[in-house]
Amino acid sequence: MNAAGINRGTAGNVSARVAGGFLVTPSAMRYEDLGPDDVVRVGMDGTPGGARKPSSEWRFHRDIYATRPEAGAVVHTHGPFSAALACHGRGIPAFHYMVARAGGRDIRCAPYARFGTQELSDRALAALEGRRACLLAHHGAIAFGADLDAAFALAAEVETLAEMYWRALAIGEPPRLTDDEMDAVIAKFAGYGQR
Ligand code: 13P
Repeated sequence: MNAAGINRGTAGNVSARVAGGFLVTPSAMRYEDLGPDDVVRVGMDGTPGGARKPSSEWRFHRDIYATRPEAGAVVHTHGPFSAALACHGRGIPAFHYMVARAGGRDIRCAPYARFGTQELSDRALAALEGRRACLLAHHGAIAFGADLDAAFALAAEVETLAEMYWRALAIGEPPRLTDDEMDAVIAKFAGYGQR
């Protein structure tokens, strides 16, 4: 994530679903210092196991696994372009067809709530309705996927789209694709890629 520019320092966190819970990065540790024993297993009731404290954002990781059966991994980022838009409370509209990669006609921005709170999780879950990614006001972004590769790829895509939108905004608010066109793109993505 740091090499891809979607997180810096200890910002962000990652998890993967396992039987009865999920594995999540520990809180406030540099990614380059982490070993397997630093990763924390958290049960669906929020009970952590292991030597380290889990990410302060374990609640939204847990709540995504609890409500979105298609989620196998979750990536949370503080990507600079995603965060810049989110600091204005702006999501990413249908200015580019790749917005449909997140599953809907736009990528919403959840209203602000303090990091690590249930309120943040509740607001993120609402913004993720029908989507696999959202921005978080004054904070960053969340993306999930069937596995770690898919979640990471979408997190990087969201940051790319945020950068494109930010650049497009420099010469004015770009025109939007229509709802019908976005729906057609979403349908086309269902059969896109190699088997
Ligand atoms: P953690 O190190 O506790 O995961 O916190 C980082 C973060 O991005 C909180 O939103």
